[in-house]
Amino acid sequence: MLVKNARIENKEELTDIRIKDGVFEQIGKLEAMPEEEAIDLNEKLLLPPFIESHVHLDTCLTAGDPAWNMSGTLFEGIELWSRRKEKLTEEDIRQRVKKAVSMYALNGVQHIRTHVDITDPSLMALKTMLKLKEELQDLVDIQIVAFPQEGILSYPNGKQLLIDAVKLGADAVGAIPHFEFTREYSVESLDFAMHLAKEENKLVDVHCDEIDDEASRGLETVAARAYELELFDKVTASHATAMHSYNNAYVLRLMRLLKMSKINFVANPLVNTHLQGRADTYPKRRGITRVKELLQQGINVSFGHDDIYDPWYPMGNGSLRDVVFVGLHVTQLMGYQEIMDSYKFITTNAARTLHISDSYGIREGNSADFIVLDAENYYEALIKDASVLYSYRKGRKIVENSPSEKHLLV
Ligand code: FE2
Repeated sequence: MLVKNARIENKEELTDIRIKDGVFEQIGKLEAMPEEEAIDLNEKLLLPPFIESHVHLDTCLTAGDPAWNMSGTLFEGIELWSRRKEKLTEEDIRQRVKKAVSMYALNGVQHIRTHVDITDPSLMALKTMLKLKEELQDLVDIQIVAFPQEGILSYPNGKQLLIDAVKLGADAVGAIPHFEFTREYSVESLDFAMHLAKEENKLVDVHCDEIDDEASRGLETVAARAYELELFDKVTASHATAMHSYNNAYVLRLMRLLKMSKINFVANPLVNTHLQGRADTYPKRRGITRVKELLQQGINVSFGHDDIYDPWYPMGNGSLRDVVFVGLHVTQLMGYQEIMDSYKFITTNAARTLHISDSYGIREGNSADFIVLDAENYYEALIKDASVLYSYRKGRKIVENSPSEKHLLV
């Protein structure tokens, strides 16, 4: 198949792509061969598929059950989820995850890193997600983080549950240092999780300091262990919202370690602007990690949705466009080129977070995975909330959407 006249990743010049056996065979100026199927993109934007680098699929689509989160805090969310967890069944998880994944797929997402709560003696959500990962692979690649929502040391048998989750097949080890009972537990939990990842050759993704407390300093431990254990870019610090509140002198010192550690960051602009600052009067902190400064230091940052209609976030539709749109505002990355390049937060940067950069992207020899947006470049796509017209996976069309059109009749 030949794809004609694509604007690949905002490039001015038009490019053609030949796909054979599910792989990008040739990229350049190409002519159709006799009887070759060809589609003309008419100068539309072609991107590698979107990547959701942080979401909780097991909690999606449960908002209001058993009650709505009225304080809007992370901690009320955790308490509500703890109650909802008691009535989890495999069928309940299956239905919600499939719905959420289809919402993502329709919006051009083909890779999802999901955190799955493993503070549950039955590990039901994890076991179900491992099956769904196989069942849904025609639509998406799912990466599973064993996420100890209620702590590793602060939850009964937490260490063993984390070990069991890894042995069952989780791709990454998680932790939640800011939720542990004490600072000592926080450090010990990170030591435990990161040594486990090293021994089992797993990735690491820590819910790291998702709190406005400037004394929450799990991040320095994550970065130090990533460096010392030589885990480096296999490690991700998600949220890291306390960094927003750190004093500048401390950040100056911390940046050196962050660079040495080569860790990735995930910011979740929709959810953290909603959850953070809840103990503030005025001024209210935005509660987003220091994205601009991290990027300036060459540190990788991607953006995630985090939650879709669950105890922590009462909205969400599986479109990463809103994540990027709000993310640019709250991080003040609103220069022309910053807006143009912002698709990278949910494509190439996210691929680095997921540790899949070697096989990801529009390159000859890679799996023919791509999406086409109803716009000429990403700036325009953001402004007009452009539809994802097509999503192709291994050379096969898996999504086709109509352009959204509005008609003024007067
Ligand atoms: Fe999260």
